[in-house]
Amino acid sequence: MTSSPSTVTVDVHLTDEEWDAAMVEECRRGLTATPKVLSPVWFYDARGSQLFDEITRLPEYYPTRAERSLLAEHAAAMVSAAGADTLVELGSGTSDKTRHLLDALTADGRPARYVPFDVSEATVRAAADQLVEEYPALQVHAVIGDFNRHLGAIPVEGRRLVAFLGSTIGNLDPDERRRFLGALRLVLGEDDRFLLGVDLVKDRDVLVRAYDDADGVTAEFNRNALCHLNDRLGATFDPATFRHVARWDEAASRIEMHLRSTLEQAVRLDALDLEVRFDRGEELRTEISTKFTMEGIAAELDEAAFDVVRTWVAEPGFGLLLARPAA
Ligand code: SAH
Ligand code: TRP
Repeated sequence: MTSSPSTVTVDVHLTDEEWDAAMVEECRRGLTATPKVLSPVWFYDARGSQLFDEITRLPEYYPTRAERSLLAEHAAAMVSAAGADTLVELGSGTSDKTRHLLDALTADGRPARYVPFDVSEATVRAAADQLVEEYPALQVHAVIGDFNRHLGAIPVEGRRLVAFLGSTIGNLDPDERRRFLGALRLVLGEDDRFLLGVDLVKDRDVLVRAYDDADGVTAEFNRNALCHLNDRLGATFDPATFRHVARWDEAASRIEMHLRSTLEQAVRLDALDLEVRFDRGEELRTEISTKFTMEGIAAELDEAAFDVVRTWVAEPGFGLLLARPAA
């Protein structure tokens, strides 16, 4: 644990070495599987975080704007319904929309705590330094960890509102969601609350455009995962030989992102001592983005022993749910 003099503390539960070790094995499994698949965590290096920030401002990418409008209008109600003095945010990234919740949390100069929790240490540190400048009454206690493995690292302090925004939960498959919700439920006390943002099922073309924008920012973001593998695992991917593909899978109710090899090729990954062959036209799946109904996600919460206490929905279809541990 390291801390700077003022009000930023950072707990690192995931060092670069541990991260590399875990990811190397996951990467080997994914790249030797049929069909090939890559973990979405590879998107978020420094450049990936920047590109994601650009995605959130694209005209086609409505989820950020829709969720922000709900937070702008209802953050005070959310924070007061939760009775929280501590905001924990999983996958916090740049903590941009979070400011609406922080405004409500620190209204009247009340002391408050913010716990950003993310795998990307550089992004979280930059966000934390900025936030303590803007919110003098705020203590920032950041956690660097994997929300699929380290929820036990969430500090037990204050009355906590745990926010999971941006429909990041949709990037987990049904099994992973069940495990995630179960693990979160176990670390919450009866006074803690959970605020979940979910993108909702809507017109197929609107969905596909949100993941395949006209300027190609999402394509660049997708291919950046390969650059990250090159940097981190000594891989020899040529990103220019992979095409971005976003498809709606109606049965699974999700957008799937792929990288399609435009030629037959072999790629080496030094850190894995592995050579991976791609046929021409072969796809590597890099992300899923599940789209929910409010009833469907409420049922998943119920199954994980959460009671939904309030919901908010914005156009063109994005929902926030406030839930409490079931009695
Ligand atoms: N909450 C922000 C950012 C969403 S992008 C928003 O709504 O706009 C997803 C964020 O989750 C990124 O910052 C990424 O670094 C983080 N992330 C992805 N997988 C993670 C994991 N397994 N554990 C912790 N953080 C993760
Ligand atoms: N949680 C975001 C979503 O599912 C992440 C995201 C947005 C994303 N655009 C992307 C992931 C493009 C991969 C590729 O909407």
